[in-house]
Amino acid sequence: MRNAIISGTGFYAPPRVVTNDHLKSQYGIDTTHEWIVQRTGIEERHFADAGVACSDLALKAAEQAISNAGIAKGDLDLIIFCTLSPDYHFPGTGVVLQQKLGLCDMGKFIPALDIRNQCSGFLYGLSTATSFVRSGTYNNVLLVGAEVHSAALDLSTRGRTVASLFGDGAGAVVVSASEAGGRGVRRVHLGADGRFADILCQKIWDISQRPFIPQDAAGIGQVQPEMMWARMDGKQVFRHAVERMIGSLMEVAGQEQLTLDDIDLFVFHQANLRINQYVQQHLGAPESKFVSNIQRYGNTTAATIPSLLHEATMSGKLKRGMTVATVAFGSGFTWGAAIIDW
Ligand SMILES: CC(C)(COP(=O)(O)OP(=O)(O)OC[C@H]1O[C@@H](n2cnc3c(N)ncnc32)[C@H](O)[C@@H]1OP(=O)(O)O)[C@@H](O)C(=O)NCCC(=O)NCCS
Repeated sequence: MRNAIISGTGFYAPPRVVTNDHLKSQYGIDTTHEWIVQRTGIEERHFADAGVACSDLALKAAEQAISNAGIAKGDLDLIIFCTLSPDYHFPGTGVVLQQKLGLCDMGKFIPALDIRNQCSGFLYGLSTATSFVRSGTYNNVLLVGAEVHSAALDLSTRGRTVASLFGDGAGAVVVSASEAGGRGVRRVHLGADGRFADILCQKIWDISQRPFIPQDAAGIGQVQPEMMWARMDGKQVFRHAVERMIGSLMEVAGQEQLTLDDIDLFVFHQANLRINQYVQQHLGAPESKFVSNIQRYGNTTAATIPSLLHEATMSGKLKRGMTVATVAFGSGFTWGAAIIDW
């Protein structure tokens, strides 16, 4: 049986650390460290400097993942790029990464696919990569989740609710074919509920209008703040996140006839540490089976799950032979859960 295994992981965060106090002292946001920590668990995040794009962060994480997988760049068959902060509106960032990896110079014109499922993006990507590998279409898929949120956050008191949550970073894995048994992605369960598309979104423009962005007399586009910045009903997101994360985890575990005791490590998407603690308590699973790094990086959206897989692998917390349950929820609403035999 042909399995899809995670053969390598990588993670990169830009060097500039922005603490909660920096949000106040450097950006003038009316907030406190205590407010943010109490509600989200976040202590600091990393922000990329101007001139650094999503594909630049992705490149560093991707190179690590490829190296840790023990393959050469030329062995890749497909790039899947998950992000909500792409370099361009179009084309997708997957092709930019392909070029930056040097694949075009090598004549490796492999396909590049972008996934736009926000915090659930990595699991949507994992499902896609697994299907391609299991079917025999591809042997090595580079799956990247990367975000440069800092460029598009309203870093003022007006935007403080959203701005205090997000950080920049990139995580990557290589999903490879393996004939060895007992290892690989067992199952991915995905879901979405488009009734809540407006609850957490960033519109920028309205494509139903002519032109899609209003212009001034000189023909310069004018984006109003309510269109430019992300909007979020935090309480609704919190409530649905808890419900969907528990539901999808139970669904995927049930389909695999696993109890929670069979899971060795829970790797949750990290929107807010309090959401994850609530879910953990509801499940009654011991804290030692959970990993988190949101305290240091904030919510890095598509990058949070691969960043945790990488950190847990490097620290030895995640070892070969363990069974991992990973869960995500985000804008859309979209969600997913996966069981992986590491
Ligand atoms: C965002 C979240 C922390 C806000 O917490 P909350 O308890 O719901 O807080 P509210 O939005 O009701 O705001 C309460 C007050 O705090 C203020 N506030 C918001 N952000 C603040 C900040 N960073 N610092 C200080 N005060 C802040 C609000 O302006 C509001 O003030 P008011 O009562 O004077 O109007 C919480 O709703 C949450 O985590 N939701 C989930 C969000 C999420 O996970 N998003 C990503 C999903 S992938």
